[in-house]
Amino acid sequence: MRTINGKRFVPLIPKDVLISRIETLANEVNKDYEGKNPIFIGILNGSFMFLAELFKNLSIQCEVSFIKVKSYEEMSSTGHVKELIGLSENIENRHVVIVEDIVDTGNTLKAVLPVFLEKKPASLKLLTLLHKEEATQVSLDIAYTGFKIKDKFVIGFGLDFDGYGRNIDEILILAE
Ligand code: IMP
Ligand code: MG
Repeated sequence: MRTINGKRFVPLIPKDVLISRIETLANEVNKDYEGKNPIFIGILNGSFMFLAELFKNLSIQCEVSFIKVKSYEEMSSTGHVKELIGLSENIENRHVVIVEDIVDTGNTLKAVLPVFLEKKPASLKLLTLLHKEEATQVSLDIAYTGFKIKDKFVIGFGLDFDGYGRNIDEILILAE
């Protein structure tokens, strides 16, 4: 049991399970993108730790970059994407993989996808560590998912509660 910002959280996905699942995901990506020189674009801030771990396990030639989309306040998704910052790379004719920490309502990705597509990538796929499938309100084709989890607030491994908890090296879930 840990208290972050006055809320109590309990373990959901331990560190070793995360690390081994991410290694498996990376191996799938290594196979699928061999010779394709993909660029991985992480959505900040939440994806930084996951993408770092994933990247350590990629053996193919590839690049990494990050963008920022601010769309979340406290413990419920506002559903409004406020800003998209930093897509400076030329992704035309590139194989692009968007990397998320978690897909909740799906509104962030839904808002972001057209911005990528209008730059005419060779392909565009989604990769997320966590997916709250029951909470997702839009239809999204997610190519790679680490874990499907229930519709409850989680923190750790890059995910925050009002800015805190990102440095916890496992996934914790809000206690009942
Ligand atoms: P969506 O637009 O509702 O899919 O939400 C996407 C973003 O909301 C994610 O990239 C996270 O930054 C944040 N988010 C959604 N659920 C959680 C959660 O349980 N904990 C922490 N952040 C979350
Ligand atoms: Mg995020």
